[in-house]
Parts: sequence; structure tokens; C-alpha cells
Amino acid sequence: MIIILGAMDSEIEEFLSRLSSPQRHQWNGFAQHRGQLEGQDVLVSKSGVGKVMSALVTQHLIDRWHPQAVIFTGLAGSLRPHIDIGDTLLAADLVQHDLESAGLQLPRGQVPYSDYRFMPADPVLLELAAGFVPATGKVHRGRICTGDQFITCREMDSHAYLTEELEGDGVEMEGASVALVCSVNRVPFLVARTISDRADGSAADNFEAFLPRASRNSLDLVRFLLPRIARAELRGAQGSAE
Ligand code: ADE
Repeated sequence: MIIILGAMDSEIEEFLSRLSSPQRHQWNGFAQHRGQLEGQDVLVSKSGVGKVMSALVTQHLIDRWHPQAVIFTGLAGSLRPHIDIGDTLLAADLVQHDLESAGLQLPRGQVPYSDYRFMPADPVLLELAAGFVPATGKVHRGRICTGDQFITCREMDSHAYLTEELEGDGVEMEGASVALVCSVNRVPFLVARTISDRADGSAADNFEAFLPRASRNSLDLVRFLLPRIARAELRGAQGSAE
């Protein structure tokens, strides 16, 4: 089974409209939709917004379903001029930009007393997704910075570390926490985001306006990926770690 996540209902609706033989399961207010997409067994769920919600939902789903892979789709803000609104950003790796322990002499994003800082996506999933040709816009691979903040120009002024220290390409609020949970559980993952804004003064308006187009792009990408995943061998697809 492949788990497909989006932060909000509006980010998973397109998937739900295409699921065949859907079965609904419930967990603490989160509906889990199991069914077939492109002939593959999938489970679609909302993760909730932010690092904590998305981490706890992801851990629960891994424990319950032992997925072959987790794919997270949704929106992100661009941190680079060449990554445009409407483009697709595939996370080559992800980092928690608001995890800061300078007092412990640790670099930003480092999970203290662990090896986790920049968490790479599954290389096979990333390579497969890089072959996707979207209806509009370009596909980029890059670094996604995740934090419990919606970034607009005010934060961009104070958060120069996003592009300088962390060399981020996109910013959002769930990817690195899902990546951390998947990494600890050794479940292959991919985070694929459609760029909705430039993390500036128009970010909130662009975000709302862009949701329907982003959801269609996410669906197109996942439909492209699923048959290819079925033919590929993913690393670390054994489920839970010891
Ligand atoms: N998701 C989409 N745009 C975002 C932004 N500017 N900041 C955080 N998360 C986002």
C-alpha cells in the first residue's frame, strides 16, 4: 500500500474523487480513505497542518498500515526567483528550519543528539517523480524547509537563514516532520509540492487562490508515479525499524 497525504481536506479532495472501491476508516477525527488508484492499493488521509499534527498522523498510519511508501503533496512557498508559482518542487531533502539549538553549539535544523538534519527523500521515488511532465510549469528538485510558521515578507526579513544558512528552495509546514517520522521508521517517502506563492506579502491570498490548481497537479503527479512505483524497488520498504 502507498499512503498519500495532504495537510488539508482541500488538498486531498481530488484524490478522493478518483478512488475506486473506497473504504472509509476513522481515527480521532481523521478520515482514512482506502481504495484503488491507477490499479494500486492506496490510503489517502489528511495529515493536519504543522509539524506536530503531521508527525503524529504519519506515525499512526505507518503503525496501522505498514505502507510501502508515503507520498506527501500540497503547496509550498518559493524561496528562489527561478522557482515560479505553479511549478512543482520535489524535495531532494528536508529540514526543520525552526529547530534551533545554537546554545548547544548545534547547527540550525539539527535534531539534538541525533543524526537527523537534512533528511533525504527516497532516491528511487525522487528519480521517478523527476520524469513527471506537469500540465503547466516546471519541475525542480531542491531543499524544503519546514516550520510551524506561514512565511510572508515579515518572516523573510528576519529569517535570512532560510536561504543563506539552510540553502532552502521552498518553505512549508509539514514536510520535514513527515520525513523525520518516515526516516525513523525506514519507510521510503517523497514530498512533492506545488508552488503557490513567493513567501511574500501576497502569500496568503495566493495560497487560497492556488489550492484547486495545486490539487490537480498533485493528482497528476501521483497518477504518474503509482504505476512506476509498482515496477520499481524502493529502498527501506520493510516497514518499521527494530
Ligand atoms: N505553504 C505554502 N506557502 C507557504 C508559506 N509561504 N509559508 C509556509 N507554508 C506555506
